[in-house]
Amino acid sequence: MQKHGNKYGTHRVIEPKGVLPQPANKIDNNMDEIYDNEILIDVKTLNIDSASFTDISNRANHDPEQIKKIMFEIVEKQGKHRNPWTGSGGMLLGVVEKIGDALKGKIDLKEGDKIATLVSLSLTPLRIDEILEIRPDVDQVDIKGKAILFESGIYAKIPTDMPEKLALSALDVAGAPAQTAKLCKPGDTVFIIGAGGKSGMLCCYEAKKRVGVTGKVIGMCHSPKSTERLIKLGFCDHVFSGNATNPVETMQVVSDLTNGKMADVTINNVNIPDTEMTSVLCTREDGTVYFFSMATSFTKAALGAEGVGADVNMIIGNGYTKGHAEITLQELRENAELRKVFEELYA
Ligand SMILES: NC(=O)c1ccc[n+]([C@@H]2O[C@H](COP(=O)([O-])OP(=O)(O)OC[C@H]3O[C@@H](n4cnc5c(N)ncnc54)[C@H](OP(=O)(O)O)[C@@H]3O)[C@@H](O)[C@H]2O)c1
Repeated sequence: MQKHGNKYGTHRVIEPKGVLPQPANKIDNNMDEIYDNEILIDVKTLNIDSASFTDISNRANHDPEQIKKIMFEIVEKQGKHRNPWTGSGGMLLGVVEKIGDALKGKIDLKEGDKIATLVSLSLTPLRIDEILEIRPDVDQVDIKGKAILFESGIYAKIPTDMPEKLALSALDVAGAPAQTAKLCKPGDTVFIIGAGGKSGMLCCYEAKKRVGVTGKVIGMCHSPKSTERLIKLGFCDHVFSGNATNPVETMQVVSDLTNGKMADVTINNVNIPDTEMTSVLCTREDGTVYFFSMATSFTKAALGAEGVGADVNMIIGNGYTKGHAEITLQELRENAELRKVFEELYA
């Protein structure tokens, strides 16, 4: 008889007691027996969050063996893959191996289904037996291992009309385009930072769709490569490259492009720290900044905005919003160019 677990997974928290699995320092990753409301997953691929992977790779001097060592250490210490420096996780692709007795027949999953988990690796019990391949260009790591999805954990079945690694890549950042869909109205000026990256491109597409011909989408990229890619996609009214850690310089460009009106909505999709003030300064009074980036500091954003007297609404990039998986996969289905770029980069 299986033991009954807590919906949110607190039964697996080892230390400190009483907290939820995400903030816990250590959780139980023993998979020999599962609780009656857990799903056991045979893991194939980890999609490490971009801010986390960039950080681990830098610490490892981009040496795959060192990356492996850091990843094993993280999981050994915490029972999950929460990057101790960025606090972020990622998500995973795997096959449902076992469904707890209490969930059987109550969910639309069966053993053998291929799924992507849509809850962070920073709270997901994980065991890594072997690291098979690291794909640094796409932050993906193929492993042999197991993971647990709690009763409250959300997931998406991998669609059959696209390669699974393509779906995994897009679902990793599904919160961003879906929040963009909610925030952007016809006629808005939307400024997207890190616009040539994975979540950035999805947001540009969604923003243009929502603001329509009367609105304006401005994309800020970094490298010439991502800048060229975004220009070619044609989703933005203006694309420029720059360094988002330079707030005043960037503000000037956005001011020129908007006749001093600045953005109604700014979406931050970078994978590096210290871009909070660029986001704030490029947004009009009473406008909205959506910080999707995991490298965002609450303190820097809050105190920085106060420091320049900016009355803007700031939204923390919740990775989940209703319908996020459907909105994201739909983008790849409806735009052939976007899908082509994603297939080239991530599939
Ligand atoms: N909130 C959530 O739930 C959630 C979930 C998943 C991911 N995330 C976070 O979302 C962010 C974006 O993820 P992603 O997968 O889209 O990352 P990505 O594909 O690596 O894109 C990041 C982009 O940031 C740009 N960038 C880097 N340095 C810059 C600078 N100094 N100035 C301007 N742009 C710069 C890069 O441009 P170049 O390529 O040209 O250098 C790149 O296009 C990450 O921080 C990730 O951790 C959040």
